[in-house]
Amino acid sequence: MKLTKLLDTSTLSDDEIQTAWEEAYERFETQEEEIQKFVKRLEFVGQKDWKRDAQTVELFCGRCNGIRALEKLGFTNLEGVDISRNLLTNYRGKAKLYQSDCRILPFADKSRDIIILQGGLHHLPRFPDDVEQTLSEIHRVLRPAGHFVLIEPWLTLFLRLIHFLSERNFIRKISNKFDAFAAMTHYEKETYYRWLGQQSEILLLLKKYFTAIRLSKKFGKIIFIGKRK
Ligand SMILES: C[S@@+](CC[C@H](N)C(=O)[O-])C[C@H]1O[C@@H](n2cnc3c(N)ncnc32)[C@H](O)[C@@H]1O
Repeated sequence: MKLTKLLDTSTLSDDEIQTAWEEAYERFETQEEEIQKFVKRLEFVGQKDWKRDAQTVELFCGRCNGIRALEKLGFTNLEGVDISRNLLTNYRGKAKLYQSDCRILPFADKSRDIIILQGGLHHLPRFPDDVEQTLSEIHRVLRPAGHFVLIEPWLTLFLRLIHFLSERNFIRKISNKFDAFAAMTHYEKETYYRWLGQQSEILLLLKKYFTAIRLSKKFGKIIFIGKRK
């Protein structure tokens, strides 16, 4: 029975907010649960048709479970980018990691086959400028025949229900997952809720840089697979 105290973010420094958010993120699901979730997502987005040695980058890779899922599926040529040194230190493996800001990617033009981005754009501070800058960087780095895979929160009915439940203290007391979710959204609330409120503009930005191969909006997520324009 635990209810984490949510601190007033106006009294915290950016680093303290980041640390509190990372603590909740670590608590939300175990590494094994997260890897399994990513394996299922990769199956949904068509990984079986991708070459195992495709040059594949996971942006905003966090504690690298997306990379571990790719490894589990046999991908051999993997790189990850995240701004948090703390989260990147979780990883022990063959992928090459870059502690870097995804708004300026450390890669040459048209040099990567697959770029995957799960749950990162909604963290960026300036909307729409940061989102556009990141998408234009992905467009720059992706090979013409390459694939861009985006998975981000999306305000569906399902997500509204999750928000409703995670705002109830009695639910948070009996569910560590809802408690962790409430803490994560609390510490990222400024960028998270702004992102959720900008659906048309986000779709326009995606279509500016990429041709959609697949677009789905279900269970609180947008899944977009595109090729560079
Ligand atoms: C919600 S987590 C997603 C992590 C992972 N993709 C996942 O789905 O579990 C967001 C990640 O974005 C990272 N991040 C935030 N701003 C960033 C930036 N400007 N450049 C690179 N990474 C950033 C954070 O450190 C965090 O790991």
